[in-house]
Amino acid sequence: MCGIVGYIGPQAAVPVVISGLRKLEYRGYDSAGIAKINPDSGTFEIERAVGKLINLERKLSDADHTPHQRLNIAMGHTRWATHGSVTERNAHPHVSMSGRIAIVQNGIVENFLELKHELQAEGVVFTSETDTEVIVQLVEKFIHGGCDFEKAVHMTLAQLRGSSAVVLLNLAEPGTMIAARLGNAGGVVVGLGDGEVLVASDVPGVLECTRKVIFLDSHEVVVAKVGDVKVRRLNGDRVQKEVHTIAWDPVAAEKGEYRHFMQKEIFEQARAITDTIRGRVDFEQGIVTLEGMKPGPTPRKIFSIGMGTSSISTMIGKFMIENLARVPVEVDYASEFRYRDPLITPNDVVLGITQSGETADTLAAMQEGREKGAKIWAIVNAIGSQAQRVADGNITMRSGPEISVASTKAFTTSVVDQYLLACWLAQQNANGSTAEAQHLAISDLMHLPGLVSIMLEKNNIYDELANIFHTREHFLFLGRGINYPVALEGALKMKEISYIHAEGYPAGEMKHGPIALIDENMPVVCICVRDNVYEKMVSQIEQVRARHGTVIAIATEGDTDISKKADHVIYVPEAPAMLSPVLTAIPMQRLAYHMALRRGCDVDQPRNLAKSVTVE
Ligand code: AGP
Repeated sequence: MCGIVGYIGPQAAVPVVISGLRKLEYRGYDSAGIAKINPDSGTFEIERAVGKLINLERKLSDADHTPHQRLNIAMGHTRWATHGSVTERNAHPHVSMSGRIAIVQNGIVENFLELKHELQAEGVVFTSETDTEVIVQLVEKFIHGGCDFEKAVHMTLAQLRGSSAVVLLNLAEPGTMIAARLGNAGGVVVGLGDGEVLVASDVPGVLECTRKVIFLDSHEVVVAKVGDVKVRRLNGDRVQKEVHTIAWDPVAAEKGEYRHFMQKEIFEQARAITDTIRGRVDFEQGIVTLEGMKPGPTPRKIFSIGMGTSSISTMIGKFMIENLARVPVEVDYASEFRYRDPLITPNDVVLGITQSGETADTLAAMQEGREKGAKIWAIVNAIGSQAQRVADGNITMRSGPEISVASTKAFTTSVVDQYLLACWLAQQNANGSTAEAQHLAISDLMHLPGLVSIMLEKNNIYDELANIFHTREHFLFLGRGINYPVALEGALKMKEISYIHAEGYPAGEMKHGPIALIDENMPVVCICVRDNVYEKMVSQIEQVRARHGTVIAIATEGDTDISKKADHVIYVPEAPAMLSPVLTAIPMQRLAYHMALRRGCDVDQPRNLAKSVTVE
């Protein structure tokens, strides 16, 4: 979950690294630091600061950033703390005892304590509480034992348990950066610039310099020099890596005229969903084609797994795939799936849904499916991510870079991807009786971007509701059927950006306990669109009102009855039942956004969170 950027080239290295870190700050923002090699003195110049990147930039504001005529080398880090409290002492980079080797790391060394004690017994003095420092001290130990820099890194990595992505610099070899990836900790991207080379945790960290990148896989080590990049596996074998050209426009990863990335990404959803559908649906023929998927036998069962918002997305996809393709779907949190010894057969599919493509639990759950003989599919947003590369088949979300920690457009596009997958599976079993239904399901997609645009029109109700409820400390979100997961998503959005305790519940569960929570202080968001459970939801609203709860209803345009029963109503346009969650999700996002704004919370970088959870 940390952000890493390293640079070697003709530009002033510190501004390049800082600019790259700013693009990655969503990955962690507890502290930040940078190490630059001063080629004249042959020493490291290191600056670190607690808090956001801006605090480090302030410390660097008086530094001279004139590029050195020979070579400019630096690497930086934004931290999401795992081992060691949030202090300057624990901020990365860390250096070896001699001060001649520096490291930044993303991930966890599970056996760091035993390694640390061994090194301390040999006289190594540690200056931080981090697991990271163990790595750089080990590298130095192997170099002192006669290994060269690359060999010392290989030897060190072979000692580590857990997932890590590391970048190291060595004063003895100032033109060289060594980076490595162990397990599923955040990625390592190598940027192949013109006369310059970069390494970073994620693509946005290198995009300002180059669009040509290679992605490291687990247990691979790259020795990066300008014009000379070599990758080896931990066993020493050379690896020829494919060079990808990133199509993203770097501006897409900027806020533009929006106040927050979350706001921008909410309002990009009509365009994003259009892109998700584009080129994949022949509305004339009623046919779906998925470029990353190979036709094959219909799965006996699909195990859909993910974390957080992506896990909620799998719950919606279950309705779509079972309803449209009649394929059984079992959904589970990836973190639970991987440890429950799931009953998987080789005729099954494990479908991982992950915006970042780097979530440790999701990758591990996909691996669990692989080991049990299942085919692996992935629905991902980040091109070149680990999930996309390990899957047998994949469907990209095409939402464009999602920077805000709170996932919005990736959620709705992942839902649309599952709808496309359901239609794709259905058409593989097409027969006379189902062909018409399938054609109808596909044509329902045609109007979806337009309906989403309606949900994105200016609407003061969110600001009004935030003014009324921003001081509340508890919220309930209720839904039924395919909109029950949307209630969970509403609660998650509210929790993660406004820090209000919010719970999503299947409405039918309320009378089995949670209704005891209802009183005049409890706002209850009820998703009550005109579908097969509408009547049930109306009675749910009446039960809440009877106990003096305040009801915010999400209702279908034109439903005037609801406005007599609920305290506040947000309307969504009429939509096919299977696609209604794409619309009802948007009021959840906009309400949470305005509540967080009104409460003065950090919308894009909420406390304790990071965009990509690459550790367990
Ligand atoms: C969603 O708003 C959260 N940021 C979080 O739950 C997120 O969905 C989860 O960490 C999964 O991330 P992924 O989609 O990149 O795997």
